[in-house]
Amino acid sequence: MAPKVLISDKLSPAAVQIFKDRGIEVDFQPDLGKDKEKLAEIIGNYDGLAIRSATRVTPTILDNASNLKVIGRAGIGTDNIDKDAASKKGVIVMNTPFGNMITTAEHAIAMMFAVARQIPEASQSTHAGKWEKSKFMGTELTGKTLGVIGAGNIGGIVCDRARGLKMKVLAFDPFLSTEKANKMGVEKVELDDLIKRADFITLHVPKTEQTANMITAERIAAMKPGVRIINCARGGLVDEVALAEALKSGHVAGAAFDVFAEEPAKENPLFNLPNVVVTPHLGAATTEAQENVALQVADQMANYLLTGA
Ligand code: MLT
Repeated sequence: MAPKVLISDKLSPAAVQIFKDRGIEVDFQPDLGKDKEKLAEIIGNYDGLAIRSATRVTPTILDNASNLKVIGRAGIGTDNIDKDAASKKGVIVMNTPFGNMITTAEHAIAMMFAVARQIPEASQSTHAGKWEKSKFMGTELTGKTLGVIGAGNIGGIVCDRARGLKMKVLAFDPFLSTEKANKMGVEKVELDDLIKRADFITLHVPKTEQTANMITAERIAAMKPGVRIINCARGGLVDEVALAEALKSGHVAGAAFDVFAEEPAKENPLFNLPNVVVTPHLGAATTEAQENVALQVADQMANYLLTGA
C-alpha cells in the first residue's frame, strides 16, 4: 500500500506534486495545524506529516500517531515539534536547513537598513502627508562594526553581505575556526568582546538551553551606547523587557525584531516604541524560499518513506 502523508500547514503546492510523482498519497489540509483536536483525531491515518511552523507536534498528537514514521519541517527550526516524544515513538524528525537561508539572511540585512534609517516610521509619516524631513536622521553602515552571533548557514551569509556593505564584521560562534573566519574576512571573537565593540548586533543561533535569554540585561548594559540590535533568529534569545528599558533610556538606539518570545505576538514589550521595527516572523517568507523548502522536505520525506534513507 502507498504511504500516506498529511500536509497540515501552508506549504507550496510544489510539495504536493512531488509526493504524487513519487507515488505517495497526499492529503493537503493547510489550515489543519491550527486545529489540535482534529489533527489528533486523524493523525493515526498517516505515515508522514509535513509542516511549517503553525502545527505544534505535541506529545498528545504523537500518542495518537500510530502509523507515523516521519515528520518533515519545511524550514529550519524544529522547536514546534516535541522531539523527545517523537524519538520515544521512533518517529524521525527532519528539517531543510538550506532552503531558506539566503532569504532569512536578506531579511536580517533589510531589517538592519530599516533600523539604521528609520524607514518604517519615515514611510508612515510620509503617507500621513507630514513630510518630516529633519526628523529622520539615520546612520551609515559603511565602516560600522557588525557583531554576528552565530556564523553558521544564515549568519555566514549575513557576514558576507555585510562585508559587501564595507562593514567590519565580528563573529561569535564556538564552531567557527579562526582559519574559516580569516577566509570569510571576519574577526572571530568571544561574545562579551562582540557585545562591547559592535555598533549593530544580529543574532543567528537556534533557541536552545544554552542560547535562551543569552542577551541578558547585563549584556545589554555592556553594549556600546547607541547600539542597534537585530533578531531574525528565534524569540527568547534576548531579554525583551530589559531591551525595552534600554530603548526607552536611549542606551540602545534601535531594534529590529522578526521573532518574539511569544508567537503569534499580539502584544510585546517592544511594540510601539520609537525606532523599533517589527515584522511577523517573515524571515523565510519569500516565494523562492518557500518553494525551496517545500521541494526539499517532500523529496527527503519521500526518500525516507519509500527507501528508509
Ligand atoms: C525557520 O525556522 O525555517 C524559520 O524561522 C521560518 C519559519 O519558521 O517559518
